[in-house]
Amino acid sequence: MKFHIETFGCQMNENDTGRIQYLLENVGYEKTEEIEASDIIILNTCTVRESAKNRQYGHIGNLKKIKNLKKDVLICIGGCAAQDLKEKIIKDFPYVDIVFGTHNIADLPDLINRRISTGKSICSIENNGHDPGLFKVRRKHSFRALVSIIIGCNNCCSYCIVPAVRGNEISIEEEKILKNIEELVSDGAIEITLLGQNVNSYGKNLAESCTFPELLKKISAIKGLKRIRFMTSHPKDFSDELVDVIRDNDNIAKHIHLPLQAGSDKILKEMNRSYTRKGYFDIIKNIRNKIPDCAITTDIIVGFPGEEKKDFLQTLDMVKKIRFNRAFTFIYSPRTGTRAAGIEDRIPLVEKKKWFRQLLEIQNTISFEENNKLIGRKFEVLVEGRSSKNNDLLEGRMENNTIINFEGEENLIGKIVPVIVMDARTFYVKGKLA
Ligand code: SAH
Ligand code: SF4
Ligand code: F3S
Repeated sequence: MKFHIETFGCQMNENDTGRIQYLLENVGYEKTEEIEASDIIILNTCTVRESAKNRQYGHIGNLKKIKNLKKDVLICIGGCAAQDLKEKIIKDFPYVDIVFGTHNIADLPDLINRRISTGKSICSIENNGHDPGLFKVRRKHSFRALVSIIIGCNNCCSYCIVPAVRGNEISIEEEKILKNIEELVSDGAIEITLLGQNVNSYGKNLAESCTFPELLKKISAIKGLKRIRFMTSHPKDFSDELVDVIRDNDNIAKHIHLPLQAGSDKILKEMNRSYTRKGYFDIIKNIRNKIPDCAITTDIIVGFPGEEKKDFLQTLDMVKKIRFNRAFTFIYSPRTGTRAAGIEDRIPLVEKKKWFRQLLEIQNTISFEENNKLIGRKFEVLVEGRSSKNNDLLEGRMENNTIINFEGEENLIGKIVPVIVMDARTFYVKGKLA
């Protein structure tokens, strides 16, 4: 049997797709990129914004054609939208065979067998406490790996559906993480990305206390590990100690993703983010003082209910002052069941779109200018593959997470090489091998 899997959403889902692939290959199924050639089609979904959910709903709708042509093909919907919508997916799309939640990944091979033997569609959403097999992951590249160190989220950002679909925060024991990373390194991984909705909250529920900076220091000491990344950092739990650990350890990438979300204290409070404008500025000041070359990226939401023009201008002001290397910007999207969805929202969408474009324009100019500052300098680049835009070029990431394209041989893929930046664009730079 062949399976085809499509992934939406964030790196948590990318990692879960690796887990699904591991499990299915382990019971003898084979992965295929061709949807028509597959016996099992899996969508690993995201529901963080309505637009994401709608796109995937459209996609599930399109699968009907395939099901009509090939009656035995199994359609399986997993991930965050599945966890959120549960049986409703089967009600809306009766040809869907299996709906599985974010806690039920390890059960997928059994669910497939059950579906085949009973002929009945299945919705498996409850957390049954089975071993999630968090570290059994098929990697996309041998040289890099994603490692979950904390799953779920205990924050209650008022706009966010993630805690509802990913469950309570659970930190994975330190020894298990270290052992997993040691194994990955001996298996060829040179770059590790530590994953969690709020990595800075690591260790809070563990019997043996260990903070995120302490964990990071221990991971950094693993021989052969060239680069460590982590995301996401919540400003409310971001400590001075963490900045020191990043500064003092060469293999920790000088890049921090620190979602700002909004620049006005009123909106930050309504969002329940638990930090202020000043608090955020203080963190940035500390990072810039101690690690001048550190790239800082962020997430920003425009048009939160109750946000007025003067609040939005405070966000713009912060963006101009901080000069993020990159910002991921979103128009607020109400999610059923979240507190913000109940707040009156008087600003029309056209106005929000205007603000959004304004923010994007300013941020794009800043990103372009910051990338231009890199021209003429030499950086260590992990070569990830061929450029998706131009197959003649290689594509890699600098330590600060900037994408760089340059000419080079195929055998450099998976290696760290020195590259000089020659030219800059808004979202990437061009270079030449040093
Ligand atoms: N745990 C991470 C991010 C999770 S979701 C964190 O706390 O930063 C990724 C981003 O999606 C968020 O940072 C936020 O900017 C955006 N987002 C989440 N819910 C949203 C919503 N309802 N509308 C618009 N953007 C949203
Ligand atoms: Fe959502 Fe906030 Fe948790 Fe991030 S920290 S996943 S934005 S609730
Ligand atoms: Fe990620 Fe989307 Fe789920 S952003 S945690 S895949 S809702």
